[in-house]
Amino acid sequence: SIYTASTTAPVNIATLKYWGKRDKTLNLPTNSSISVTLAQEDLRTLTSVATSESFTEDQLWLNGQPESLQGERTQHCLQDLRNLRSRIEAQDSSLPRMSQWKLHIVSENNFPTAAGLASSAAGFAALVMAIAKLYQLPDSHSEISKIARKGSGSACRSLFGGYVAWEMGSEPDGSDSKAVEVAPQSHWPEMKAAILVVSADRKDTPSTSGMQHTVATSDLFQERIRNVVPKRFEEMKQAIQDRDFTRFAELTMRDSNSFHATCLDSFPPIFYMNDTSRKIVKLCHQINAFYDETIVAYTFDAGPNAVLYYLQENEAKLMAFVHHVFQKNSGWDTKFSQNDLEKFS
Ligand code: DP6
Repeated sequence: SIYTASTTAPVNIATLKYWGKRDKTLNLPTNSSISVTLAQEDLRTLTSVATSESFTEDQLWLNGQPESLQGERTQHCLQDLRNLRSRIEAQDSSLPRMSQWKLHIVSENNFPTAAGLASSAAGFAALVMAIAKLYQLPDSHSEISKIARKGSGSACRSLFGGYVAWEMGSEPDGSDSKAVEVAPQSHWPEMKAAILVVSADRKDTPSTSGMQHTVATSDLFQERIRNVVPKRFEEMKQAIQDRDFTRFAELTMRDSNSFHATCLDSFPPIFYMNDTSRKIVKLCHQINAFYDETIVAYTFDAGPNAVLYYLQENEAKLMAFVHHVFQKNSGWDTKFSQNDLEKFS
């Protein structure tokens, strides 16, 4: 017989960035991070898994194409899941011996892969969740997040909806490096995200090698993880608890800038943001200055695309600007005249 399970996992976008590992094999980070999980309908990975005694090898199809499962990180996740399953099997002889069987996995993203849109996060989260479901493992999101973390660090945060923290932990074996919920989506449901796709190409420097390079070569990075992020982590959690958008937005923008500054301070430097990205940064500051109120925050991952966070009530105010700028066929022109700005007030 064949056993199957399916699940979707959403994309999460960090507002306090994970950048740097203290252990590469276990994906243990040099700092704690915070993210907001996007709504499932928008960006997500759908993964279905099947297992049967008759399957002869582990197989994966990603967006319709066969892909290797031999990567070290994927193997690490599969091994952890099989170990947990075999422990359950050892306690109950009536259970099918799935831990011994091969897996067939089908996974689909509804967005461009590896364009700095956090596809690895949703991908590994969905893979691990689907197999955990198939194996009927105990339903602890934080426990499963530790397995997803070994696939891709940011994946551990996609186990929860809403506002999520990845606590870096201090144990060498990673047993306390896991995702926890800061607040459910319902705590602050007015929060919206918009993605400005500057480029859907695959990114130049993959995050894994990029962060290794930053850890090895940037002095500014040391300052960031020692003196900046620990305090910001507490402040951002508090801003979320308080639903303080002004505070949340400033911390988010500062952290994106700090992360990209450490990329620039790497040697040779890494460039993820491009001219268009920088124009978006400038535009957001202009919009906030124009309304004399913080209505938008930007953040950029390991690529040029922007994610904007804003509250539902300000959507029209924000999009008026964004559409105006997009429509100028000469590309991005953020040198608004006072006249231009007044059209949107
Ligand atoms: C800039 O989770 O993709 O998006 O653990 O090596 O797979 P690996 O890295 P990954 O890095 C994400 C980096 C980031 C910031 C973040 O999501 O926190």
